[in-house]
Amino acid sequence: MDRAIGIDSIGVYVPRLYVDLTGPWATARAAALSGGDVEKLVGKVTDGVGVRRMAVADAHQDCATLAAMAAKRVIDASGIDPRDIDYLAVGTETTVDQSKSIAAYVLGMLERHYGVSLPEVGAPQFQFACIGATYALEAAVSRMRAGDNTKPYSLVIASDISKYPLATAGEYTQGAGAVALLVSERPRLLALERGLCSTVTRDERDFFRPNGQTSAVVDGKYSIDVYLDCMEAAFAAYAKRVEAKLGLGGADLYDAIDYFCFHVPFPRMAEYASARVFGQLWLGDPQARARLAAEEVPLSGAPRKDFERALTRSRLFREAFAAKVAPSLTIAREVGNVYSGSLYLALASLLEETRGQSLAGRRILLGSYGSGASAKVLSGIVGEKYTAALEHLRVHDELRPEAEGGVRVPLSLSDYERLHALSDRERGAPLLPPRGEFALERLGTSSSAERTDVGYRYYGWIGG
Ligand SMILES: CC(C)(COP(=O)(O)OP(=O)(O)OC[C@H]1O[C@@H](n2cnc3c(N)ncnc32)[C@H](O)[C@@H]1OP(=O)(O)O)[C@@H](O)C(=O)NCCC(=O)NCCS
Repeated sequence: MDRAIGIDSIGVYVPRLYVDLTGPWATARAAALSGGDVEKLVGKVTDGVGVRRMAVADAHQDCATLAAMAAKRVIDASGIDPRDIDYLAVGTETTVDQSKSIAAYVLGMLERHYGVSLPEVGAPQFQFACIGATYALEAAVSRMRAGDNTKPYSLVIASDISKYPLATAGEYTQGAGAVALLVSERPRLLALERGLCSTVTRDERDFFRPNGQTSAVVDGKYSIDVYLDCMEAAFAAYAKRVEAKLGLGGADLYDAIDYFCFHVPFPRMAEYASARVFGQLWLGDPQARARLAAEEVPLSGAPRKDFERALTRSRLFREAFAAKVAPSLTIAREVGNVYSGSLYLALASLLEETRGQSLAGRRILLGSYGSGASAKVLSGIVGEKYTAALEHLRVHDELRPEAEGGVRVPLSLSDYERLHALSDRERGAPLLPPRGEFALERLGTSSSAERTDVGYRYYGWIGG
């Protein structure tokens, strides 16, 4: 019999600093981005793209500290002993080292913080743009299924700080944050379905970051097309596997998936992805075709973009999207793009937004995408006792500004631009002095016969 393996619990960490995209930022950028029309820019960013605020990392934070924070949250919330973890994999595309696995830095932070020694923990880093953490999750689950684990838990962490040049269309899709997934047998949250993970990969130039560059090179519109094509192909491969394994196809497959979580570089992207996936499913379903035809959606002959545009305006789509996708998008609206963590923030958003409903036994589909390009589609079944694993999760509450009972602090435009200009190696003074968190304390500067550590990163826990 298959052993249930999957996500037992989730920890989320988002830096406290943020930029409100409807405030002074929009006034300052309107000249470059919308011909001086501030209202138009705000409308585009909030409605057209779907974001309102973006999280920004402070000077003492980087992708490793964010990862360690998310890890600490999931460890503390689950009440597990860190010595019961034997695999700690980090998916990131904004690592702090060209050689060392960022997971080793995270491991060191956890060892020092908990006062434990974890010498037999595997600590790889997975890099493939925004899909790295999903490859890490697949590896963690597979080694557990194979029985290669020596301890009951693995930790998979997605951590990134997304950064594009100022005053470009990418700027308003930045963000920062990390999500840690505790992987176990008999998981409380989501048992991943064995044999139902599909993968596609294509050698693409939609988004990349050559060595030495701090911002990504992105062909924005093209990256959307590649995302959609890869997601469509991965979903088709997933559907074939589901048909073969569970005998579910067409309308039955659509009904069997209660929620769709997609990679969310920005919330509207999940709408485009839904249109692509739902559209393909509905075109093969006579009942859905009849409903769409009645709403004058062109079912044949029209270019695909026109079909999908009409589809997204149809009642059938709006209702399906509201029920099966929208709950996964509310955190992204407040945080922005966290690259490898975006899909898992979507999962956290869904679980929080549906608090009070019973999701036990429901199927959640995860559609992961990374530029360059690869997509994976997998699914899981929500556990019977999943609410116990959710008690600690309060991301929406935390994301309120301090003045409204949350933990967030707005950034002035000049402070934001100063932080944006920092590189991994020149961090400067933090804006919010760290307290109760992991922090980058200093970079090594020694170069002698006895000790060489130039550029090595020293992290510590700052109490308070
Ligand atoms: C995503 C990205 C390409 C968007 O660029 P952009 O120039 O803002 O895009 P658009 O001009 O197409 O506008 C986006 C949407 O806003 C809508 N819009 C424009 N002005 C608007 C306004 N004033 N009010 C409401 N909506 C508006 C557009 O119609 C469009 O919606 P549609 O697709 O339904 O037609 C850009 O932010 C980017 O390059 N981001 C980084 C890369 C990325 O995230 N890629 C995703 C795949 S991984």
